[in-house]
Amino acid sequence: MFMERLDKILASQGVGSRKEAGLLIRRGLVEVNGAAVSRPEEKADPERDAISVAGKPLRFQRHLYLMMNKPAGVVSASRDSREKTVVDLVPEALFRRDLFPAGRLDRDTTGLLILTDDGDFAHRMLSPKKHVYKLYEATVDGPVGTSEIEKFEAGVVLEDGTVCLPAKLTAAGGGSSFKALVEIREGKYHQVKKMFLAVGRRVLCLKRVRIGSLELDKTLKEGECRELTKRELELVFQAKNKCVIGLKNADGQI
Ligand code: URA
Repeated sequence: MFMERLDKILASQGVGSRKEAGLLIRRGLVEVNGAAVSRPEEKADPERDAISVAGKPLRFQRHLYLMMNKPAGVVSASRDSREKTVVDLVPEALFRRDLFPAGRLDRDTTGLLILTDDGDFAHRMLSPKKHVYKLYEATVDGPVGTSEIEKFEAGVVLEDGTVCLPAKLTAAGGGSSFKALVEIREGKYHQVKKMFLAVGRRVLCLKRVRIGSLELDKTLKEGECRELTKRELELVFQAKNKCVIGLKNADGQI
């Protein structure tokens, strides 16, 4: 049994601010197990009690997890005094006050971004120790071949001397432009761009397409988001392929 203040419960579910939730309660619009409550400080167990607001049952979820197809031109932050943020793009029906992006994509990077209000989840997903790989599609200004692939696999040394963890680089062809796939499990600032710069290539375009085994939903248009299913949340922590980086034997065989 975990009892919490009703106004806090309602605010945590995006019903409104604490103050707005308090007003709804005072107006008699909130019921707990069929009985109207009148004081915002009254307590309920959100996991067990049936709470309704204006006759509509409250579907309580401790945390919210959204998949967004991030467009270019917005910053990966909750709030920004000057720029539009990814949280600004969340429709009202999915909005929660404590939402934040779990890991940042640069302003010009597009693709898969998870927004949540669950700090533990974000930590688990972002910590390099947890081995959650993120896959990016990059368009670069020159060909990607064995030399670049081997350098990524050995651990790129960035301009400032930082040594990156081994990363998997694959040339992906692409007609007149040079395309590559990069898989990393760290999230240093501008990491993919800096890794390419360190091997003499400039990233022209970057899109994240997978986190763990969770792929970007191709039906989501840029700027759109939707709730992740339970199954999809599990996919975040499942490896897509057994990681082969650094597992070669002396003959270079995996
Ligand atoms: N690496 C980058 O350089 N930019 C991103 O947005 C993500 C990874």
